[in-house]
Amino acid sequence: MVGSGGREHALALKLIQSQRITEVICVPGNGGTATLERCRNLPLAVDDFEGIARFALVNNIALVVVGPEQPLANGITDYLIEREITVFGPTQAGAQIESSKAWAKQLMREASIPTADARVFSDAQAAIDYIQVKGAPIVVKADGLAAGKGVTVAATLPEAIAAVEALFGGQFGAAGHQVVIEEYLTGQEASVLAFTDGLTIRPLLPAQDHKPIGEGDTGANTGGMGAYAPTPVITPELMGRIQTEILQPAIRALDQRDIDYRGVLYAGLMITPKGDPKVVEFNCRFGDPETQAVLPLLETPLEELMLACAQKRLGTLPPINWRSGAAACIVLAAQGYPGSYSKGMPITGVNQAEATGAYVFHAGTKQQGEQTIANGGRVLGVTAIGETFEAAIANAYNAVSCIQFEGVYYRRDIGYRVKGTGLSS
Ligand code: AMP
Ligand code: GLY
Repeated sequence: MVGSGGREHALALKLIQSQRITEVICVPGNGGTATLERCRNLPLAVDDFEGIARFALVNNIALVVVGPEQPLANGITDYLIEREITVFGPTQAGAQIESSKAWAKQLMREASIPTADARVFSDAQAAIDYIQVKGAPIVVKADGLAAGKGVTVAATLPEAIAAVEALFGGQFGAAGHQVVIEEYLTGQEASVLAFTDGLTIRPLLPAQDHKPIGEGDTGANTGGMGAYAPTPVITPELMGRIQTEILQPAIRALDQRDIDYRGVLYAGLMITPKGDPKVVEFNCRFGDPETQAVLPLLETPLEELMLACAQKRLGTLPPINWRSGAAACIVLAAQGYPGSYSKGMPITGVNQAEATGAYVFHAGTKQQGEQTIANGGRVLGVTAIGETFEAAIANAYNAVSCIQFEGVYYRRDIGYRVKGTGLSS
């Protein structure tokens, strides 16, 4: 398991729940994966492809699962496949669907996938001229990976122009040398992640996350402050359309480029007020924190799905099984996040939170002897299940109330859109 976030903790936990898995090795892992049974951390960097390959070969590792986008964009899959190691995660060419927004837009255009109208610029003045013609609100995006910080949803022209100037001024290095200027979409966002082996698509339960730091979805965007699944915004009918209008055309367009995409294809969607799904972005990996909400509901063994993707036989598996009910994940962040924040605070109450039946996924933590300490902006993700959204959300907050560390911040309104909506599936 390559990565060190809450997503990787949730994936590692799901994998070791299967008796077929003897051990999960996390590279580098976190305080949560360090204390899981049949799981251990290996102190290598996620971009140490040589070290990871050597370890996998010497130890006869059955499957390498890559969590984050950066090593995928840097070609970890290509490197490992060349050495005949089985990998879950797309090649560098496939990861372009996330690592270059301009490339992804071109692919969507060619495949007639519904998305915001957009144009790509490699010159600041041309971008600014275009913004002045289009007017605000408008969206300015760095082409490349910017750790979730390369997007400005500009309410006014001066904001949009400032964003273009910041990008060409080098704020995001090479990631900002091309910008995508995009039509502003309204509606509800949802995340549809799907397993794929490059031929077959098997969607996971649809999820929604809360990106803004503040309650009522206000303030700066973060990596995600909480998530829940299965969101009723994606009705079964809409899921059908998302498969035929978005996911399948994307896989076909990748295949036409000779890209054999195996792993997760994540469609970040806007469901417009008319009820049509449009792509906001594609990601080449599991979402974080969506994974922490979706995986606890999965009943089919995760390694069966992952191996079937890696070995190109996903179409031979029976449908994915899910347990009934809903799940909600609340992210506990360090004070100051997504700006600068402190580290090193001791965390208490995790065992009590787990004793309520909740999962406590570590996102940014470290083990210091017996003590778990905060070591990142998003520190923990607490997930609970319930037969309804009300129950899942109440159970999650009940578990959260057990946990303490200095300056702990979390939103108290996770799931406000789905409370009282019951369940669609
Ligand atoms: P992205 O990294 O492309 O997903 O963008 C980050 C966030 O910015 C999204 O989750 C949306 O909340 C917002 N966003 C991106 N593109 C648009 C758009 N075209 N219209 C409205 N909001 C957008
Ligand atoms: N939660 C948003 C993402 O994983 O990109």
